Amino acid sequence: MKTKNILIHEVGPRDGLQVEKTLVPLEDKIRWIDGMINSGVDIFQLGSFVNPKAVPQMAETEKLFTHYTSSGNKPEHVIMSGLVLNEKGLDRGMDCGVEMFCMGVSASETHSQKNTRMTTSEAQTRIIAMAQKAMEAGKKVQVSVQSAFGCGFEGPIPKDRVLGIVKEYLSAGIRNISLADTAGHAHPMLVEELFKGILELDSEVELTCHFHNTYGLGLANCYAALQNGVTSFESAYGGLGGCPFTKLPAGNVSTEDLVHSLQRMGIRKDIDLTALIDVARQVGNFFGRELPGSVLKSGSIVDFKKND
Ligand code: COA
Ligand code: ZN
Repeated sequence: MKTKNILIHEVGPRDGLQVEKTLVPLEDKIRWIDGMINSGVDIFQLGSFVNPKAVPQMAETEKLFTHYTSSGNKPEHVIMSGLVLNEKGLDRGMDCGVEMFCMGVSASETHSQKNTRMTTSEAQTRIIAMAQKAMEAGKKVQVSVQSAFGCGFEGPIPKDRVLGIVKEYLSAGIRNISLADTAGHAHPMLVEELFKGILELDSEVELTCHFHNTYGLGLANCYAALQNGVTSFESAYGGLGGCPFTKLPAGNVSTEDLVHSLQRMGIRKDIDLTALIDVARQVGNFFGRELPGSVLKSGSIVDFKKND
């Protein structure tokens, strides 16, 4: 298979933790990021800048950014991203050195209202203006369509609605587009259909995917995305995660499982899988429960041979 450069975007510190009730102390969040920082993972989403009353786990996102941006604790080759959903979040992110802003609009009206108290249309207008402001300030920007593959409240989301949002992003000059499967309703043929649809609008766009494993299809969807021009993959340590404002929150694709699957196919063999497994196990120990990821339990096939 011919693939372009594939990027891994670790969203464990944000999507992985946002739904967890037990607040993770800053030093543990830092320890887990540090454990992966030299592994070869490309982008780390340190947190979101949302209302801490809505998502208490994200209350210390500024402190996490300040730790990495103002004290030389971040290697040059790693990018630190932050999620913002409104102007106040953007201002907070600008003030603490976010390098890449991720922002999104939900294609489901119900999810949009529950998540941000905005209609899809209002969110879209505001997000596009925010994206343009961030780009003018020289920041990397990635915009997403959340609930792009279906919604627990509304069911199927029409393809035209998703591509309609994407068209607006493209006409606003935004080059990095993500489709997020917030509810986990995606399946490989739908993944193919939607990403192909975007490439028909603009063949040069940078594509990102974000899958939740609610129905066990996460890695199958990643493979479909890989075959349909997607070059950036969002995943979370241990397969932790979920949007607290979706009907049935379930974990992201696990970073170790994703990297393992890519390596088995000869892609991104540079990433230190052992470091990722080690962090996923630490995260599992912290929460005192078995996390959904597979490779953190089995070890990689190489490890298995060593211990055989
Ligand atoms: N950061 C911190 N506080 C924020 C904020 C932000 N980005 N945006 C709004 N607030 C605070 C306001 O200061 C105000 O505080 P007060 O009650 O103490 O006066 C309160 O929130 C209401 O402000 P308002 O502008 O009416 O915002 P809102 O209530 O419509 O909230 C969101 C908008 C998006 C910030 C909020 O709905 C939210 O945090 N949602 C969480 C979404 C999320 O994290 N989803 C998972 C990832 S997709
Ligand atoms: Zn998510």
